Amino acid sequence: MPAETAPQAARSAPVRQIETLRAEIRRHEHLYYVLDEPEISDAEYDSLIQRLQALEDAHPELITAESPTQRVGGAPRAGAEKAEHSSTMLSLDNAFNEQELRDFDRRARELAGVETLVYVGELKLDGISMSVRYSGGRLAVGLTRGDGVTGEVITPNARTIRSLPLAIDPAAAAAAGMPDAFEVRGEVVMPRRAFERLNAERLAAEEPAFMNPRNAAAGSLRMLDASVTASRRLDYFAYSLLDADGSTFMESHWNALEALAAIGFKVNPHRARLTGLGELFEFRNRWIDRRDSLPYEIDGLVYKVDSTALQRRLGATAKAPRWAIACKSAAEQAETIVENIDVQVGRTGAITPRARLQPVFVGGVTVSRATLHNEDEIARLELQVGDRVLVERSGDVIPKVVRVVEQAADRRPFRMPSACPVCATALVREQDEVVRRCVNVNCPARLKESVRHFAHRTALDIDGMGEILVEQLVDGGLVKNLADIYDLTADKLAALSRMAEKSAGNVMASIARSKAAPLPRVIYALGIRYVGERTAQLLADYFLSIDRMLAASPEELEAVEGVGPRIAESIRDFLAAEQNRTLIERLRQAGLQFEQDPPPESGESEPAAGKTFVLTGTLPNLTRDRAKALIAAAGGKVSGSVSKKTDYAVAGEKAGSKLEKANRLGVAVLDESGLLALLGSEERPQA
Ligand code: IVH
Repeated sequence: MPAETAPQAARSAPVRQIETLRAEIRRHEHLYYVLDEPEISDAEYDSLIQRLQALEDAHPELITAESPTQRVGGAPRAGAEKAEHSSTMLSLDNAFNEQELRDFDRRARELAGVETLVYVGELKLDGISMSVRYSGGRLAVGLTRGDGVTGEVITPNARTIRSLPLAIDPAAAAAAGMPDAFEVRGEVVMPRRAFERLNAERLAAEEPAFMNPRNAAAGSLRMLDASVTASRRLDYFAYSLLDADGSTFMESHWNALEALAAIGFKVNPHRARLTGLGELFEFRNRWIDRRDSLPYEIDGLVYKVDSTALQRRLGATAKAPRWAIACKSAAEQAETIVENIDVQVGRTGAITPRARLQPVFVGGVTVSRATLHNEDEIARLELQVGDRVLVERSGDVIPKVVRVVEQAADRRPFRMPSACPVCATALVREQDEVVRRCVNVNCPARLKESVRHFAHRTALDIDGMGEILVEQLVDGGLVKNLADIYDLTADKLAALSRMAEKSAGNVMASIARSKAAPLPRVIYALGIRYVGERTAQLLADYFLSIDRMLAASPEELEAVEGVGPRIAESIRDFLAAEQNRTLIERLRQAGLQFEQDPPPESGESEPAAGKTFVLTGTLPNLTRDRAKALIAAAGGKVSGSVSKKTDYAVAGEKAGSKLEKANRLGVAVLDESGLLALLGSEERPQA
């Protein structure tokens, strides 16, 4: 190539190469982060990035802010630079029950002057909102909601979110009817998996865990050092499209969402155009039980009037638009009175304040207490005894107090005790800790919690060892130590009040069954501080026996993935205590599993072990996430692209190029029922 003699060609070659590579990488990022439909493996993607990086290193003058290599964060932000929103970022009014939703629809129809309204139903993503401005096809400014009028400029942080396009394809923008400058509003969320991983890492690094994915998303997004944001795997769902003045410009909200998707934004797929109140209820019913199956958290649904002309007619209050409503699942929040605050002594001696509530029906059960976490939380809530509060219950987690709704006239402040309410030992508040602890290892309250933990479904799963039985066993002196559980007899149990012979037999049977529980569950059941289910699994996989774990040095413990100095020290402390060594010895004698086999080389026990699957098209019943979860549970791996190494392609409706490739390479192709049969899954397709 006559490079020296033709400088023009020499310059344009890398320009073209860089542009082609960037376009290709952008396409793969969109497939992976936005559509969840990768066509290439992570390694192939990494090598594209490396090639681009190498070219940019050689030609730094060609680096632009929109290059896919620039999602790393850059220089730290100077501080909290503020900017005004083009139009107020409003909040949403809530409907907590059917009647409130009916009222909303009636008011909206009256104000709009129509018989029936068409709405768009969406998920209410539980993250933090962010507005992003684009100009000339480029991401120009990222802004937090702030107080709705003014937000914090977080452009470098926004740039690190992989599902947020840095540049918009001009042809796609033109086809979608986009103006040169526009603004997108949406929700930044941290997917559950990313949240769990982050918290595990933080615990290992002795940093405090985040309370929930929303706090983690909020904390991560506002980091001054955006390279930290980049490491946090945030996701962005766009839910509104505005012009540079902050006004809607498309004819309908639905069209705006379609346009956003067409120009590369991630728009939540679980949306629907709904006509009339009836369909709003149907949409809600469809979502009521499905929220836990999503890979991110939601805190309700949102309904928005579809026509933007009608939206304008309806207008907004100072706080929220009159054309939209958030529908919080009716039963999950309720108001009640805090009758008292007492404290609970946990397994590790941690003292947790708890609100005693006037019983209230929330999420299908009657709730009479809620956790208050710690003293700081009570202070934050400004809660006193007698106050009227909003309590919330999600899934099977412990109900919590969301906020004080009304202060009681005769309210009484709560003071944390200085001694354990059960054994009277003086409480200790360690440095840097928000909680006080009872340090008496023989405290009956701690023992009860240890027994509950030991018998819990996720630990040794001793069915029938519920709250009341544990009370009786500990208070009656039958269980003074976890190992005493294995000295129980049907006669001793049957002698307890309220214990019928039959249920005594059942409890004995589940105690016997618990001896077969696999090693990770045994490790977890011991209740070592900071050793949760995941860490227990990692420890079991690494050491394969409790004895090897007992003999491990701190360095060796820290060699286990996910175990940092704090967990290692906690394990060492636990094992150093004489009574714990005795406990372990007695459990061994009782016949619990103290060892596990090394993982099989290939799929002997698990039907899909070591096999690689590629999913393509839409399956009739399983969602993609569900299918992935089932495959992973059976030991298999899901890859984004078909290659010679693929064992099975699972094809559904509208399977495209991946199916063709699978056929070409002679890869076995399964349909949904074939997959379920292979996995030996009992999964029953839903109607
Ligand atoms: S629309 C004027 N749609 O909920 C329209 N908000 O409680 C206001 N949110 O601040 C927002 N998912 O952060 C809208 N699909 C969705 C949403 C959503 C989550 C958040 C948003 C907003 C808050 C209001």
